[in-house]
Amino acid sequence: MHISSREQALALDATDPLAAFKGRFRLPPGITYLVGHSLGPVSESAIARLNAHAQGAWAVDIVGAWNNAGWIDLPHQLGARIAALIGVKPDSVIVCDSVSVNLFKLAAAALPLSKGPKVIRLEADEFPTDKYIAERLADLIGVPCEVVAPEAGVDALSKGGVFIRSAVNYRTSELANIEKVEEAARASGALVIWDLSHATGLIDLDLAAKGGQLAVGCTYKYLNGGPGAPAFLYATKALCEQMATPLPGWLGHRTPFDFDPRYQPAEGITRFLAGTPPILALAALEGALDLFEEVDLSVCHRKAMALGDLCLSYADELGLSTLSPPAGQRRGGHISLQHEKGYEIVQALAERGRKADFRAPETIRLGFSPLFLSYADVWDTMEDLAAILNQRLWDRPHFAKRGKVT
Ligand SMILES: Cc1ncc(COP(=O)(O)O)c(C=O)c1O
Repeated sequence: MHISSREQALALDATDPLAAFKGRFRLPPGITYLVGHSLGPVSESAIARLNAHAQGAWAVDIVGAWNNAGWIDLPHQLGARIAALIGVKPDSVIVCDSVSVNLFKLAAAALPLSKGPKVIRLEADEFPTDKYIAERLADLIGVPCEVVAPEAGVDALSKGGVFIRSAVNYRTSELANIEKVEEAARASGALVIWDLSHATGLIDLDLAAKGGQLAVGCTYKYLNGGPGAPAFLYATKALCEQMATPLPGWLGHRTPFDFDPRYQPAEGITRFLAGTPPILALAALEGALDLFEEVDLSVCHRKAMALGDLCLSYADELGLSTLSPPAGQRRGGHISLQHEKGYEIVQALAERGRKADFRAPETIRLGFSPLFLSYADVWDTMEDLAAILNQRLWDRPHFAKRGKVT
């Protein structure tokens, strides 16, 4: 639907089934937070769980809390809750480490099980960490890492090996056709590792039904798990039992508290644990996930795309080009607009309380997290963007000064 006035935006807000969720987050007053695709804001339930673990279990029970507060089970328990969100079996997901580390572990473990020549492949426009990890891993184990052109991955799959692919591209927001990729992989015996970082908590992925067998993803974006919240790793039971982690830490041992000098992998997904889980981060994530018990992800995705469509049609009127799929087409939750003064424009937007992010060389990314953004928020942001462009308000020396994090 084309939204061409603030009144229309307000009318959509009035009937938005997700509108009440905004009140469940602590958002600074006067801020429109369009960076939930990078780092989600804190929810009341996340703070509550974090406080409960810090001031209850940690302050009172200390080491006893590993058993008494169930700390030791949190990586599995939260894994099962994430499994429900991505559409896979509850015991096939574990929460641990970062996406980068989990990708390393999973790619190393999957490669021996893939058919055809041993090679790790990915497309050139994947998130840099995926490429760095794939290249280094390939180097370490002495296999090639083949970086193919964007969209050439499905063809390359016909040669087997391991293929790493984002479900939603971090820059363009392009949504992968999971079924098509998995079908090609099945035909050749290749194994696909999905990077679900920009999809989890936003899209009803139904991954297992689409043939997905392996994945990693982060919890600090749309899941709002907090800065540095641990990532997750998914592998089907059948594959898991045949895989060996390259980082066999003690908590991935079959019986860690036997302190066995000989490593024996734990059953199933547990073998991908390495060291001690970050309990306070898991506690915050536990609270963040509480909110998702009430959320229908298909409604979330639909609203994120409607907000993105609003942005795209307004941007088109402003003469801005985009890297993202056009209005009306399925995609992830963010939109990337292009402008050579993108960095300065993002700073000018921030001065007006509209928080977006910038990705070099000239991408303005606007994230449309559906749980705390309204149609009017997006309309008002686009009005501000229009003023900044039309009046060259970005053209101030202090907007050109770059911080460490953009
Ligand atoms: C698609 C994608 N993969 C991986 C990462 C990095 O994850 P981590 O910092 O947990 O290693 C990011 C971070 O934004 C990302 O967007």
